Amino acid sequence: MAGVGIAGDGNAADVRLPTGSRLRVPAALAILLAGCAGPQSALDPAGREAREVFDLFVLMTVGAGLIWLVVMGLLIYALVRPAREHSERTASRLVWIGGIAFPVVVLTALLAYALPMMPAMRAADADLQIRVSGEQFWWRVAYERAGGDPVVTANEVWLPVGRSAEVLLDSPDVVHSFWIPSLAGKVDMIPGRTNRIMLRPERIGRYRGVCAELCGDSHAYMAFDVRVVDEESFARWLNWQAQPAVEPATLEEQRGARLFHDTGCGACHDIRGASGIAASGEKLGPDLTHVGSRATIAAGLLPNNQGTLAGWIAASQDLKPGNRMPSVAVLPGEDLRALAAYLKALR
Ligand code: CUA
Repeated sequence: MAGVGIAGDGNAADVRLPTGSRLRVPAALAILLAGCAGPQSALDPAGREAREVFDLFVLMTVGAGLIWLVVMGLLIYALVRPAREHSERTASRLVWIGGIAFPVVVLTALLAYALPMMPAMRAADADLQIRVSGEQFWWRVAYERAGGDPVVTANEVWLPVGRSAEVLLDSPDVVHSFWIPSLAGKVDMIPGRTNRIMLRPERIGRYRGVCAELCGDSHAYMAFDVRVVDEESFARWLNWQAQPAVEPATLEEQRGARLFHDTGCGACHDIRGASGIAASGEKLGPDLTHVGSRATIAAGLLPNNQGTLAGWIAASQDLKPGNRMPSVAVLPGEDLRALAAYLKALR
């Protein structure tokens, strides 16, 4: 990127191009196109479904551009050529071909090309089945396993590269929309029905999923991590997530575990294997059995560390208005730190 100077704090608005440089246009284009890549871009597909949608986008953009050029050419031709009379036959032929036959053929071809891309039209040739439920405002994730209980986690979806996963989508109350731009199109999560989407990631990496349907106060804070890994890493991860929680090791963690129990956190959150948590089916909040291993907390809102965990417990309503977790502002700092140390240790 020769010839591009980044001024100030590196903010995009501060990018200054040297005046009179012939590199100006290519450099500006390079900056613009750099915005197309990244962990959350439908223009940088990393999965079969996203690639097909991208191809359709390119086909439609180029096709529409060509048709526009032809129509504009005809318009200019009609304006500049000397006026002369047309026969009735020529005029109606123009309408029939240009106005009816051409659009019918083009749109029918486009429909035939695009219909098989719809999630509902795809064969369920999945190697893996995942259930994702849209909550307010986070993601409940469960991996189905043959001959065993589903493996439950939250706000993260791990996928093996080159394998097909069928994701079944629903919601207990309001409509959300499940979207991993790098991997596939978006599908709504509608209370009372189960929608499905197929995912077949083709590139190892870390991506970002989002909620694409206005669902309430903190709709914009409803993201999730997507990790595409090789098959061996995926099997190891799934097996590890199926294990019960580790025991608290240090004195601070043990104190945190007691506080978790005494403060009543277990009423809404499950920690499988921890004592004193009522096993009463599906809990209101995210499963925390392996919360310490997740990259982010509060559905992609904050990086996961002891400080952010403590801050989240104390001020969840300020950080993410309208979510179902009350701010536990009464705990002294020492207790908050102990609780956060316990949670962070749940790897
Ligand atoms: Cu969930 Cu927007």
